[in-house]
Amino acid sequence: MPLNKETINVVKSNAFQVLERVDDLLSLSNWEKKYLGKKGEVVNITKQVCELNSVERPIIGTLINDLKQELSIAAQKRKQELATRTPSSHSVPPGTFFDLTAPGKRVPLGHLHPITQMRQYAEDIFIRMGFEVHETREVDDDYHNFESLNMPPQHPARDLWDTFWTENGLVCITHTSNMQIRILTSKSIPIRAIIVGRCFRNEALDARHEHTLHQIEGLYVDKNIKLSDLIGTFKKFLDEFYQRDVKIKTQPSHFPFVEPGIEFLLDCSLCQGTGIINKDRCSTCGGNGWIELAGAGMIHPNVLAEAGLDSQKYSGFAWGFGLDRLVMMKYGIEDIRHFNRGDLRFIQQF
Ligand code: PHE
Repeated sequence: MPLNKETINVVKSNAFQVLERVDDLLSLSNWEKKYLGKKGEVVNITKQVCELNSVERPIIGTLINDLKQELSIAAQKRKQELATRTPSSHSVPPGTFFDLTAPGKRVPLGHLHPITQMRQYAEDIFIRMGFEVHETREVDDDYHNFESLNMPPQHPARDLWDTFWTENGLVCITHTSNMQIRILTSKSIPIRAIIVGRCFRNEALDARHEHTLHQIEGLYVDKNIKLSDLIGTFKKFLDEFYQRDVKIKTQPSHFPFVEPGIEFLLDCSLCQGTGIINKDRCSTCGGNGWIELAGAGMIHPNVLAEAGLDSQKYSGFAWGFGLDRLVMMKYGIEDIRHFNRGDLRFIQQF
């Protein structure tokens, strides 16, 4: 299109139309760029002036200069208007102090479930201790939940877990140990990992047993790792979790994927380890004053071999503890079934 008076008018009316809609300083600066900038519309038409004949050139040149001036004045005016306009109800009065470190406003949508709160709390402790956090999957195959853990098909130890199977032969994971082999094969040594997630068991329910529970698995592999490292690490975590010097004991146990296997027990906080509440047997610990918290042990050489690790060179420990029980002991909750009941009177206490 040849450059003439008409073209200049089109640019001008467009520019003014857009400027009317400019409502903040950022859009204004974009507008200035578009019309008055180095690659803007005005420069664009100025470049075409040299193609005109000597009669048109001065006339059109003057018109472009006028346009440029008019647009600059209009932009200046708009800038002043924007800077001095009366604040809307959303804007902040001048001189208002912003505390950028203030916590956000709570959305009135309830709060995190106590298990979620304590899961985050426990994860933070492990992160400070140098562990990496992994999440488990909730449905898995037989290989990961059992076979890779030194339990071939038909192995009687599988009966330790009352398993929910899906119709197509998968397992609703019975423990977070299902992730062990994945971590052992994908991470390089030293391995320090925790695995967190929900597990499912087809159990007879009582104050200590639920069909859906939360576990935190610990996995540690390096050179020269000993049982005392396992006990020390786990005790350190519990001390942090309960913010006191906890009383624990260990006893021998059997899990096919560890050797030797142990169990950690914590003194029951509901009966202060006496086994009796109001002359009755404490139903939370079953009356013996101790509550079973975790299965643990030194990773079995067969499991290390399954992961391609040389058990002559490396050793490690693993544990799996029930987060629900840990939280029960922290808050003196007498029945594990409260967690999944959805009773607001219970949930609102946390
Ligand atoms: N996976 C076992 C359970 O759920 C606990 C465990 C984990 C035992 C790791 C030993 C080592 O019962």
